[in-house]
Amino acid sequence: MDLLLTGGRLFDSEVNIGILSGKISYIGCDRQKAECVYDLDGLIVLPGMIDPHVHMRDLGQSDKEDWLSGSKAALAGGVTSLIDMPNTQPPTNDVKSLNMKIEAAQRSLVNYGFHVGVSPGNLKDLDDVLKNNVSAIAGVKVFLAETSSNEVIESVESVEQILKISAAYSRPVLFHHELFSSLRENLLKYQDDRYNDISFHDSIRSRSCEEDGIELIIRAAENTNAAVYICHVSTRSGFEMISEAKKRGVNIIAEATPHHLFLNYNVSRKAGNFAKINPPLRSEADRSFLYNALRSDLFDIIGSDHAPHQIELKQKSYKDAPSGFPGLETSLPLLIDRVLNRELSFEQVAALTAEAPANYFGIKERGYLREGYFADFVIVDPGKNWQVDPESFFSKAHYSPFRDTVLKGKIVQTWVNGKQAYCEGKVIADAPGKQLEFYKKAI
Ligand code: DOR
Ligand code: ZN
Ligand code: ZN
Repeated sequence: MDLLLTGGRLFDSEVNIGILSGKISYIGCDRQKAECVYDLDGLIVLPGMIDPHVHMRDLGQSDKEDWLSGSKAALAGGVTSLIDMPNTQPPTNDVKSLNMKIEAAQRSLVNYGFHVGVSPGNLKDLDDVLKNNVSAIAGVKVFLAETSSNEVIESVESVEQILKISAAYSRPVLFHHELFSSLRENLLKYQDDRYNDISFHDSIRSRSCEEDGIELIIRAAENTNAAVYICHVSTRSGFEMISEAKKRGVNIIAEATPHHLFLNYNVSRKAGNFAKINPPLRSEADRSFLYNALRSDLFDIIGSDHAPHQIELKQKSYKDAPSGFPGLETSLPLLIDRVLNRELSFEQVAALTAEAPANYFGIKERGYLREGYFADFVIVDPGKNWQVDPESFFSKAHYSPFRDTVLKGKIVQTWVNGKQAYCEGKVIADAPGKQLEFYKKAI
């Protein structure tokens, strides 16, 4: 073996990890022979996060983020693989735009994969891109309402057709579920300038936008037997609709985002538009319900929804400011903090942030710390506390509604494909990440 890392702690047992050609060649308590030995000195080892929900922005919106800045942010946040969303410029919804994105992603320092989008009225492109590139595509993303994307799918018929095409290639459909027809009514009701304030965001993009969208998706999934993935569930009622559908046998999963788990809308009094996101942050009752559901293992997966925008745009008035904020550098750290506060376990965090995305999207040899799997992991110092400081983010977006939050446990190293890529606040990667391939049928 090339390297042996000794004396780490994985789920409460001591581990030594042997690495050969980028993969784990040994994991266990024996001390194997190696060219080189590196002592982890009792620090915690966790599988690197596979983030299934990232808006990387490169090409036409590289002022917001590009693959280099975004992947450095990923390394700092313990994300070793990520899947990029298609609402970019150009949108990733045909063979040509996917190829452009694959080329741009060569700059990524972490492993990367792609979801493709659908241009309304052009399902032929969806079929073509799946036919030509299926192993490069994790899933198909559909927006039921506008949010940094003009490609809104409004009709139930189109949703069902998209589900059928995606299912034919064994790909799940991921939804931004807020329903435009419900949103449109609210936009009219709140168009007066006195509503130009973040405190109305939760009323304008109301919970009924979420509920109506989820209802439509469940019906379409039942009619087609396709696999559907509901991004960023923000309300108790939305979550319960998904749970009930699951019990009826619908092939549906629910994604939690750290901001809906750990923040409620009161944070916008302090953070203003820096807390503007779609779907909005909700009430404390919703937040605590969702977090308890996560603690009870009722959520399926966690995505950061890293959605960077220029700070100047976020400083505009509520209605003119775009929605979204960076999440790559805070998502896994927020969860680690809860483990060290004894609210979650490292097993739960690994299951939600690494195993679930690897299983659901069929990512081979990643998501677990096992022999024969890629050596993608993070090292956490449980004794170090730190404060979220957006000015020092690697992301181009230097703001966060988590600003100044003090977190227990610091990610001190991130290893990608067997190499140390981040150490003690510095990016030291000397190799690009690998493109992810997606093999299995969605569960
Ligand atoms: O607030 C959001 N911003 N929600 C989304 O779903 C998209 C994202 C973005 O791309 O900016
Ligand atoms: Zn979304
Ligand atoms: Zn998103």
